[in-house]
Amino acid sequence: MGIHEIYIRIWTVAFVGCMVLADAASAEESARDGVIRKSGNLRVPDHDAGDVAFLMRQPWNQKNNHRKSYYPAIFIFGDSLSDVGNNNNLITTAKATRLPYGRDFPGAKPTGRFSNGLIGPDFLAEYVGLPTPPPYLSAGNNILQGVCFASASSGILNSSGNVFGEHLPLAKQVTYFANVRQALQAMLGEKGTKNLLGKSLFYFNVGSNDYVTNYFLTNGQVPSLLQTQYTPSQFEDLLLSNLVLRIEELYAMGARKMAVVGLSVLGCLPAQRLIRKGSPTTCVESINEIVRSYNIALLNRIHSLQAAHPDAVFTYLDTYRFIDSVIRQPSAYGFENVLAGCCGSGRFHGLPTCSIPGLYKVCEDASKYLFWDFVHPTSKIDKLVIAKFWTGSYPDAIPYNLRELALVP
Ligand SMILES: *[C@@H]1O[C@H](CO)[C@@H](O)[C@H](O)[C@H]1NC(C)=O
Repeated sequence: MGIHEIYIRIWTVAFVGCMVLADAASAEESARDGVIRKSGNLRVPDHDAGDVAFLMRQPWNQKNNHRKSYYPAIFIFGDSLSDVGNNNNLITTAKATRLPYGRDFPGAKPTGRFSNGLIGPDFLAEYVGLPTPPPYLSAGNNILQGVCFASASSGILNSSGNVFGEHLPLAKQVTYFANVRQALQAMLGEKGTKNLLGKSLFYFNVGSNDYVTNYFLTNGQVPSLLQTQYTPSQFEDLLLSNLVLRIEELYAMGARKMAVVGLSVLGCLPAQRLIRKGSPTTCVESINEIVRSYNIALLNRIHSLQAAHPDAVFTYLDTYRFIDSVIRQPSAYGFENVLAGCCGSGRFHGLPTCSIPGLYKVCEDASKYLFWDFVHPTSKIDKLVIAKFWTGSYPDAIPYNLRELALVP
């Protein structure tokens, strides 16, 4: 049995034993909101209800009620980097519903987020001035401020992530958005819906699984099925053509402010450095080269989309350059370990065993690590990346950062 078969087998065997009931995440979400509201209620009676200044100072008010948000709603499409609980509702081994996932999350509870704590959509929502958009599969009618369709293990292609079980591929996420649009229409009418969607943020962070759990599924000695069918450049075209089709569908449904995140240094993931031969202290350069080419081609596609749709705004958000610089100079950003996952087992903690009882080790302080587990970033780096997306400039955000994108008329 090759190392990659062992790797897949561990995913499959071990995580099946870890499935936790579907609504853990939504329960956590409400618990979190509940905590904020509760602490507020405890203090309000001590003050005159007319003491507006006091009420304004309260953190729960400043966060969600009184500050005007930059976008009226946020719609998120993607994979485990942005999944805030969709996979909790699916039959899959790709779940993060056990500690130590979530150990640094408010309340120190797992929620389905593949992280030690808050992830990209949480930090993004905070900048925007909205609550984190709820996972589509447990959102109910709570859709007016956006929805998160992201699903762990999914990709642009339907087949990406199949090895783990159920997931929401990008095409499915867009289909689900069509349902949300219909529900919005019932609540707001067509004019109100158009107006809301036209000002909302559509955020895409997808494609990693098309490479990591599909095109590069094998260890490099045996080609994957897709590698026998497509050269890297044909595969890049296939992905980007499909991504553009999905973006066009959303445009047709009224999306007008769209931000697309490029791929990160996939060759540096602990899992890739474990399954591929290579010097432990460097990344797998052949993979990073393919990622760089993908990002350049993605930027070109975004330019074409912009040219085709002058009444919409498209922006490209780069993570590659920033994360690469963190790996080259960890101490400049307060990191001590940029090679291994904080949680897991095997070389570099590159095996997906985090949270499987008895099968993993976990570091003490995840904020000193770039990687939380075999492939996912820590909450700390997510926060830095979203800060770049919000306030960064060329070439991290081309042409607009997310704050500027909000202000474009
Ligand atoms: C992918 O799945 C969607 C349903 O979510 C389906 O409509 C589409 O035809 C599938 N695409 C391919 C290439 O199989």
